[in-house]
Amino acid sequence: MTKDFLQIVDFTRDELIDTLQLARDMKSGKFTQKPMAGMTVACIFHKASLRTRISFEAGIYELGGYSLYITEKEIELGKRESIHDAAKVLSRYVGMIMIRTFSHSDVEQLAKHADVPVVNGLTDLTHPCQILGDILTVWEHLGKFENLKIAYLGDGNNVTNSWLNLSARFKLDLAIGTSPDTLPDAGILHRAQKAGVSKIGVFYDPKEAVSGADVVYTDVWASMGQKHQADEKAAKLRAFQVNDDLLKLAKPNVKVMHCLPAERGREITDEVMDGPHSIVFDQAENRLHIQKAIMTQLLRNKAKT
Ligand code: CP
Ligand code: NVA
Repeated sequence: MTKDFLQIVDFTRDELIDTLQLARDMKSGKFTQKPMAGMTVACIFHKASLRTRISFEAGIYELGGYSLYITEKEIELGKRESIHDAAKVLSRYVGMIMIRTFSHSDVEQLAKHADVPVVNGLTDLTHPCQILGDILTVWEHLGKFENLKIAYLGDGNNVTNSWLNLSARFKLDLAIGTSPDTLPDAGILHRAQKAGVSKIGVFYDPKEAVSGADVVYTDVWASMGQKHQADEKAAKLRAFQVNDDLLKLAKPNVKVMHCLPAERGREITDEVMDGPHSIVFDQAENRLHIQKAIMTQLLRNKAKT
């Protein structure tokens, strides 16, 4: 039973389904408990954020807890003192740590040495809260969270890697449309394929990836920390823009998703973002509900150990 939520695969299939159901109960008002009453959560941010920051803060408050917003300036994690020592000290003050940073291995180290649960709010490698929230949104809109074709178009990044991790737990037809120079993490791709749960394909032709898709998903071409590569990436990914022409190849009832923030006119057009297939703001809302459920699930796990 996992103490931390650093990657989707930290949760078993049953834990993922329980968490999705819990999020639905929280969203519908059926779940009214305050499992974080009296608890402080340290929310560490080394990158910008709208959705993650506000939805975690609001969610912690709604569960009865208090959140502390900590930037690089305050604790200089790993610089002023070791991650080990910071993890030990933080664990004496707070009941949970949420962190958004660059290095995934820093987060693994923090989790290893912290005595309290650690939640990954995005690293260069993965963005698990995002994709679990997204599959909740898919479930609401399409009535199921498996046996669907998900076409991810664009840069092979932390969001793509998290779709791959999800496909190791839920049966999906995951088609990744990207260029040979912007592939997702090779290790995560290999492990997802080896899990043998889903059909996983990488396509250099966007039309092939999108053909017959139930969901077309995209993200920025240059992630945080890579903005200096924006033009270079754009040159490679131009053909993977989600626009009306490409969307015609998907299922008629296709849902379009984007984790946001979007660079409108680059990876997605205004027409598609604001069009009838777009569910991007439902996605953003569900970050709140899923993260409340993830934190509650981790506290339940901790109580059992
Ligand atoms: N989707 C997402 O994580 O948004 P923020 O970067 O604004 O938190
Ligand atoms: N891939 C993007 C996701 C932002 C939520 C990034 O890492 O910047």
